[in-house]
Amino acid sequence: MIKDGFIIFFVSFMSIWVILETILNKIYNKSKLKAVNEYVRKFFSSKDKINIYPIILEITLHSIFSISIFYTYANTKLYILILFLIFLLSFRDKTYISNQLLTFISLIVNLLEKKDRYTFDHSYRVALISYNIAKQLKMNLNDIDRIYKSAIIHDIGKIIIPDEILQKKGKLTKEEFEIIKLHVKELKNILEPIYEFIKDIVDIAELHHERLDGNGYPYGYKSNQIPLESRILAIADTFDALIIDRPYRPGFSFQKAFSILKEDTEKNKLDKYLVEIFIKTIPQTEIIESIKKVKTMIRIYQGKIINNMISSLSDFIDEII
Ligand SMILES: [Fe+2]
Repeated sequence: MIKDGFIIFFVSFMSIWVILETILNKIYNKSKLKAVNEYVRKFFSSKDKINIYPIILEITLHSIFSISIFYTYANTKLYILILFLIFLLSFRDKTYISNQLLTFISLIVNLLEKKDRYTFDHSYRVALISYNIAKQLKMNLNDIDRIYKSAIIHDIGKIIIPDEILQKKGKLTKEEFEIIKLHVKELKNILEPIYEFIKDIVDIAELHHERLDGNGYPYGYKSNQIPLESRILAIADTFDALIIDRPYRPGFSFQKAFSILKEDTEKNKLDKYLVEIFIKTIPQTEIIESIKKVKTMIRIYQGKIINNMISSLSDFIDEII
């Protein structure tokens, strides 16, 4: 009798839960935890970035669930076990840890600034451009956030490249280019101790020089072996490198850069669909403005970037763009 009551209760409770969760995810297009976090933050209209509300809410929801089971089953051991599971579930989200680690990574990025100002600025511009492409693709905020963060770190391996190669005014020799290529694998080496926590963004960044025809590096991956996020980075990285003045050549115009990107799609190097979306839908003035601003804004917003890595991304981006 009790068991029948429990089954009915369990099925209906879980159904309502799944429906509510689906609605929340639809509304916010985020993971449940982030969606709940967003909702509660809005509810309290708090500026506080501490990621505590979703945990409280998770515990409350799971507690209601477990207490209900307790009264249905009247089984103390089960109740304690479930409470323990709730405790574990509440801390299952690695985002908080990974964001703390990203703060340390941003320090490495700052070191890179001291070594190579171009690469530092370039990283933030690539992040903005990638953000724009991902936004046009209507990717969810978690994915956009991952792309943005991976763009920030994508070139930190350059910290090990000798200055005379990195800053060289003339064209690189074949040997020097081979050394430059090492920066991609070095990214993983530098971040190896914390790789497990930020695997998702390192794995995207690591493939930003892969090309669809298999002639990229470090692995020579082809088409579908290269994830969407890395393809986006590749376009943003290429575009920025083209339009910015370099010691050995002035930056290309936007139109020229667009035509070079198109040529790269014809050669099956860059993703044709993504390049088309990028050229067609991204308001050029917005990029121009954000790229112009980024140099001066970076310093002002540096603290904010770090904070932003700890919490939400979109407010900052909207502000800077
Ligand atoms: Fe690179």
